[in-house]
Amino acid sequence: MEFHASCGEGLVGLLETEVLKSNLKIQSKNRGGIFFSTKSPSSLRHFLESTQISSKVGLVLCNWNVNDYDDLYNEATQFPWEDIINQRLSFRLESKTKDNLPDSRFAMYRLKDAILDRFRDLEIPFPDINKDNADLGLYLRSYMDHAVVELYLSKDSLTKKGYRTKAGSATLRENLASAMIEFSDWKNDTPLIDPFCGQGTILIQAALKWKHSKAINKKILEESYVFQQLFLNSEDKEKMESNTSKPPLLIGLDESEESLELARNDAKKAGVEDLIHWELGEFQRLEDITKQYKLPKDIAFAIITDPPFGNRLGSKEDAKNLYSDFGKYLKDMQAEINFTIITGDTSLLGFLKLKKEKEMSLKNSGLSSKIVNYLVHPRKPNGSQTTTH
Ligand SMILES: C[S@@+](CC[C@H](N)C(=O)[O-])C[C@H]1O[C@@H](n2cnc3c(N)ncnc32)[C@H](O)[C@@H]1O
Repeated sequence: MEFHASCGEGLVGLLETEVLKSNLKIQSKNRGGIFFSTKSPSSLRHFLESTQISSKVGLVLCNWNVNDYDDLYNEATQFPWEDIINQRLSFRLESKTKDNLPDSRFAMYRLKDAILDRFRDLEIPFPDINKDNADLGLYLRSYMDHAVVELYLSKDSLTKKGYRTKAGSATLRENLASAMIEFSDWKNDTPLIDPFCGQGTILIQAALKWKHSKAINKKILEESYVFQQLFLNSEDKEKMESNTSKPPLLIGLDESEESLELARNDAKKAGVEDLIHWELGEFQRLEDITKQYKLPKDIAFAIITDPPFGNRLGSKEDAKNLYSDFGKYLKDMQAEINFTIITGDTSLLGFLKLKKEKEMSLKNSGLSSKIVNYLVHPRKPNGSQTTTH
């Protein structure tokens, strides 16, 4: 069986790592995702339950060659939809087509007509179409003369963990927070601080990753009819397992009490309120915080953060000063810090005056953005510190 895992632009490299980790075979990839195949239900299940980068995964139902909308209609009337959709199940259609099918909306209507005409010809009662809360989601995509219809394996996007009470204008999307955590190579035994934590998405995702490492998506998947059918005979009927290893130290700092209030509510809804400490104040409290939480002087810690960049919060001039002050502050701290930042204005990165270790480009809410990783005062293998800037 062939599947398609989709992801945000720029995240396909991280998605590839997840696909390979689950022992799935990559067939092809592009900017928006990866087509993979597998004969192993447990590998597929592992991927579905653990992916933090893919937003949707679909089973490829049909793969046609089409020159125009009539070809699409004719192919679609030959397909046994009645084996998948029935009167008791509602369905919804989505489409993103191009080249031979330039109008996505029209292509979707032709597909819908073909499905309903087939039911009419076979004298089978029509299934319900439900745009908002359908049992089954079908996705039509096309490229040149290829048209593919996928059946989604989850009802909703896998990235929506359902804990958001109210999203602020500068709140980071859950999958981007996860992408930052993956990119930083953060490990549970390293304290993690977000000094511009806002609504706390990065720390909540880190807490969820620790708590449900093997099955972070299990709850969303269990609501899916398709997932239930696919794994009907599976032995695994256990509840969402919790991690019993030592929890990580997670600390969020922000100058806005209002943001911290939202963060606390979201953490509670996500069931990780006991795992995260929230502190009010400006980033200059960082050093005090390392003392307050008794971080040993020689221990490395991680910072993963999303500071304001003069778009929705503050001006560009403020952002330049903030980046410059923050870079200097980290250097002055003398601690070994694995520092990862996301920004929608890459011209600000130079103000940090730090030597980058690695970077990746991506789109964040339509803005060309970067996630960049720095090692500040890394220790040499013999334990002495090096200067990197
Ligand atoms: C882009 S938002 C972070 C959003 C966060 N990643 C989330 O998902 O909600 C930046 C945050 O930095 C905070 N902030 C701005 N200047 C600060 C400073 N000097 N020290 C600490 N926090 C600051 C703002 O209050 C805001 O919540």
